[in-house]
Amino acid sequence: MRRRAVLTAATLTGSLVLAGCSGSGSGSSAAELSVSRPYMPQPVSADMAAGFLTITNKGAAKDELTSVTSNAAGQVTMHSTMGGAMEEKSAFLIPAHGQLVFKSGGNHLMFDKLKRKPRQGQTVTVKLTFAKSGPLTVEMPVKSATYNPSTGH
Ligand code: CU
Repeated sequence: MRRRAVLTAATLTGSLVLAGCSGSGSGSSAAELSVSRPYMPQPVSADMAAGFLTITNKGAAKDELTSVTSNAAGQVTMHSTMGGAMEEKSAFLIPAHGQLVFKSGGNHLMFDKLKRKPRQGQTVTVKLTFAKSGPLTVEMPVKSATYNPSTGH
């Protein structure tokens, strides 16, 4: 909470938000992770769904996403898409001052062994575990099957 206030002040001055990272305060050679734009398109199948989100690292150190779990699924795996073929990965790099993006057609989370079929308007709780940073819990909203995050429909 305190950090958000600091960033807001920095934005008001028109200076770069990035400047807030290297500023004074707590020793910041660590990753500082946050999650944005999580969503799950309502799945067609009753036992498998995809999920997408963006992880932003404002810190000066890289980290790795090492596992994903969810209350809605027996198993969640992380996939990359290379040349149209997807490949399961055991970890994804989150670069310092960078982002890890899961988006339709690219990296994605795969929810298997669904406990019940997620429906539009519901949320699914997702827990992200990292190599160095503490875990993050995300409420992932279920959107329409054809949801496009860039149009919001
Ligand atoms: Cu996949």
